[in-house]
Amino acid sequence: KKRMLSGIKPTGQLHLGSYIGALKHFVDYQDEYEVFAFIANLHCITVPQDPATLQKNLRDCVALYLACGLDPKKATIFLQTDVKEHAQLGYIMCCHTYMGELNRMTQFKDKQAKGETNLSGGLYTYPALMAADILLYDPDYVPVGDDQKQHVELTRDVAIRMNHRYGELFRVPEPLVAKVGARIMSLDDPTRKMSKSDHNDKGCVYLLDDLAKAKKKIMSAKTDSIGHVHFDPENQAGVSNLMQIYSCLNDNESFEQIEKDFEGKGYGDFKKAVADSVCDTLSKIQTRYQEVLSSGELEEVLTEGAAKARPIAAAKLDKVQRAIGMEIIE
Ligand code: TYM
Repeated sequence: KKRMLSGIKPTGQLHLGSYIGALKHFVDYQDEYEVFAFIANLHCITVPQDPATLQKNLRDCVALYLACGLDPKKATIFLQTDVKEHAQLGYIMCCHTYMGELNRMTQFKDKQAKGETNLSGGLYTYPALMAADILLYDPDYVPVGDDQKQHVELTRDVAIRMNHRYGELFRVPEPLVAKVGARIMSLDDPTRKMSKSDHNDKGCVYLLDDLAKAKKKIMSAKTDSIGHVHFDPENQAGVSNLMQIYSCLNDNESFEQIEKDFEGKGYGDFKKAVADSVCDTLSKIQTRYQEVLSSGELEEVLTEGAAKARPIAAAKLDKVQRAIGMEIIE
């Protein structure tokens, strides 16, 4: 079986973008591939966090992995900090990544451009840690949303560089970015990505949103005055975003089919159909989320996941350290 690895950084509540762009793929692929899905808690602290909120988001993130259908019997689910090799290989990757490369990464660049001050060193070197997260496990594929593709490409570059310098250390992974749904946009401003750190709550549907609230957010999504359901991200960004959401939640129904189904109907009808699909998905996730929380299975899932991940990570770190000459070999 080919191996697949990805993670989510629970700096806030997971939303429709995290689900459609990432989590749903982990679930869809878990039969076909050997899936490693981790919770990137080291990455959370690159920006200041309130400890109590972070703790809650972490627990919710694990619970939502399961609630969305990841099966711990098939996929390896673990917390990044439970496998200490991430931090250690992260440091080594940092030493093999150029500042010029880190300077080009958009996340840091954007925050800097916005004039945000007191940005941490961790935020700057974060892509090197992400490279370690990936390369520890030799995955073939890394399913991510559009915004993370750049980091997977950096991972490839550093892997190739180190393989060249020290001999074959890492499998060079491919990013898997879906054609539809890899960049879900904010509902109230479809020129911006739907994001955990959104400026306001209206643009983002959280997986744990109350259904009435979720419906309202979809029904008041920004559209245009053209008035027919048509896929045209440039001129009909809002409607095109809703079409992506609808397609991803309805067995990847094609845009042509959606256009046909809603021909002659107004945006109100279409939004209602999108809202129904979203609420249907959320309702299933939320029911299962409650079951997961009351079952008390989280701890066991994480313990088992870490036990499966650790030996793989330890062997890789050891191989890397030996190749570099960092270990004394008798
Ligand atoms: P994070 O937590 O920001 O996002 C998790 C995943 O969700 C995708 N995503 C979206 N997809 C579509 N539309 C959106 N609006 C949207 N918002 C988020 C992201 O692209 C991502 O795939 N650095 C990563 C976490 C990470 C990681 C890794 C991922 C750490 N180490 C190793 C893969 C492999 C991050 O911050 O993702």
